[in-house]
Amino acid sequence: MRKKVTIVGAGNVGASCAQRIAEKGHADVVLVDIIEGIPQGKALDMLQSGPVVASDSRLIGTNSYEETQDSDIAIITSGVPRKPGMSRDDLLLTNVEIVKGVTESVMKYSPNCIIIIVTNPLDAMAQLALHVSKLPRSRVIGMSGILDTTRFRTFLAMELDVSVEDISACVLGGHGDTMVPIPRLTTVGGVPVTDILPQETIDRIVNRTIKGGGEIVSLLKAGSAYYAPSAAVAQMVDSIILDKKRILPCAAYLEGEYGIEGVFVGVPVKLGMRGIEQIIEIKLTPEEDAALKKSAEAVRELVEVMKLR
Ligand code: APR
Repeated sequence: MRKKVTIVGAGNVGASCAQRIAEKGHADVVLVDIIEGIPQGKALDMLQSGPVVASDSRLIGTNSYEETQDSDIAIITSGVPRKPGMSRDDLLLTNVEIVKGVTESVMKYSPNCIIIIVTNPLDAMAQLALHVSKLPRSRVIGMSGILDTTRFRTFLAMELDVSVEDISACVLGGHGDTMVPIPRLTTVGGVPVTDILPQETIDRIVNRTIKGGGEIVSLLKAGSAYYAPSAAVAQMVDSIILDKKRILPCAAYLEGEYGIEGVFVGVPVKLGMRGIEQIIEIKLTPEEDAALKKSAEAVRELVEVMKLR
């Protein structure tokens, strides 16, 4: 039997996730939105691409949660995106109410699902979903690290004129201005980029990576990125439903790992059928460790604004 994936929010990110996941054919997809007709119309349109792309995935769109019953994974993308000049953190108060209500509705019908959070500010929204769902921490995961590393990999491949496939990148920390790219552990064909590129080039690329989402927001003017974010979500879904146990950078709730307690931070994790099956701890230099702790504190400040209890 195919797995079942619910996607809440049929906007740019949600619809792109639905398309990418359905095209792989491993799961049926339920697309939920509050706007009448939008999830239904988009799902029907995608369903009709099945014969051409050779996918038997069933897609349905709905404005209620009955059809989401017994989902294996619920992806939460509902919420407002950034406008030029806004940080992800500026979205907090609007998206808090949306993500809270959506998590409650998802849990009512799929109490054993794995939740993937995409709505920003990502790390705070993941903490909210963990709090509301009362799921174990292994089953609430934030999508951020794959997006940050894929941006870093893209820019490095452009700079070096090599295949993107041969670049493996490491980015830790919160999904925001305090994210911590680690060039020392970022490699091209196994060789650290710090051995290949001058420091100023690395600094320029790191800086562009950190501001990668904002660069797209200022180009689009209305809305934020969705092609790369949905590709990242689809990779997480694959690793979970196919139990691939890939090591992927995701936002995970830390309970002492990296010396950080009680907050979501981007770290490498093993993703399988049971969600986060392991948090991988990397030995960091004192500078990297300090940057990661600073990033975790920035997330904690945002979480405190939500007054979860
Ligand atoms: N329940 C279901 N859907 C909702 C709800 C809700 N309570 N509130 C809003 N939505 C829907 C909107 O109707 C809209 O279709 O969420 C969708 C959001 O889509 P877009 O505005 O296109 O935003 P998108 O670009 O998809 O970004 C969504 O993901 O990457 C993050 O920062 C981004 O927080 C933002 C989120």
